[in-house]
Amino acid sequence: MILVSGATGGIGGEVCRLLGHAGVPFRALCRKPEQVERFNQDGIEAVLGDFDRPETLDGAMQGCDRLFLITPPTPDQVAQETAAIDAAKRAGVARIVKISASDGNVRSTVPWAKSHALIDHHLRDAGMGWTILKPTAFMQNFFWFKDAIAKGFLPQIAGKGSVSWVDTRDVARVAARVLTEEGHNHATYFLTGPETLDMKEAASRLSEVTRRKVRYLDLPNPIFKLILRLTGNSRWMANGLIAQFSDVVAGHHDIDPTFEIKRLTGREPKSFTDFVRDHRDEFVPSN
Ligand SMILES: NC(=O)c1ccc[n+]([C@@H]2O[C@H](COP(=O)([O-])OP(=O)(O)OC[C@H]3O[C@@H](n4cnc5c(N)ncnc54)[C@H](OP(=O)(O)O)[C@@H]3O)[C@@H](O)[C@H]2O)c1
Repeated sequence: MILVSGATGGIGGEVCRLLGHAGVPFRALCRKPEQVERFNQDGIEAVLGDFDRPETLDGAMQGCDRLFLITPPTPDQVAQETAAIDAAKRAGVARIVKISASDGNVRSTVPWAKSHALIDHHLRDAGMGWTILKPTAFMQNFFWFKDAIAKGFLPQIAGKGSVSWVDTRDVARVAARVLTEEGHNHATYFLTGPETLDMKEAASRLSEVTRRKVRYLDLPNPIFKLILRLTGNSRWMANGLIAQFSDVVAGHHDIDPTFEIKRLTGREPKSFTDFVRDHRDEFVPSN
């Protein structure tokens, strides 16, 4: 039995869909009774559990031998995942498949990059099986700016820096594969898309697919921060995103394509053009 956390989120939801499609038994971990009910109505086993309340985890993990571990980037991420790893060990889970990040580094100025590095170390030291997936930046991050893109602008602060953008659907495909296959214990996989694009090229692909001109606006950091704050991001998240794009991306520290997705799943990862095509309606004005 596989316990899937983040089952109501993007990657975890797709992992559930793929496991269900393959007929692999799994249990979805949810924080709210109404989420459990929704999964049950679809004929999917689900259980209540909250990484902020470790006492809820032992029961949720009973009888599971694998855990798909994912949490959103917050200041609580290290505490949440550390609690999950410790509970999994107590419950006899044999292997954890964890979503980490390609830029994980304990000295990073990017808060979640530092958190993932600390959690990765904790997991490797826990005395159990693990597979660590380290994706680079998600193509789905472009949804953050979909309204601006629909108006013809891609606001960013990344200069000429580029990213080997990865589609979260490919990250989920790898996760589902390594959760159900042997041979991935104590392995770390860096996951990227097939090519490296800077923001100017990303804007040009968006223009090409939407057939509307999208211009990359390379903004000063304070203006970008204002946009992030006005669109509902916390100060912690806004500062983290500034560090991510102005230090890691503009500083040319993202990783080159690794081709691991093809090697692990036998299928090419989606290109940025594929991603925009699949979600074209999100990037054009609604009427
Ligand atoms: N964005 C990127 O470019 C990028 C790149 C590399 C790595 N990553 C990493 O990818 C991960 C995914 O982030 P995301 O924002 O995309 O996730 P997400 O899809 O929004 O999913 C988050 C999931 O975690 C669940 N959750 C939240 N708090 C929880 C708790 N206390 N206990 C149990 N479950 C909890 C949520 O449940 P509810 O529905 O109940 O809220 C949701 O199902 C992060 O660790 C991030 O650092 C991101």
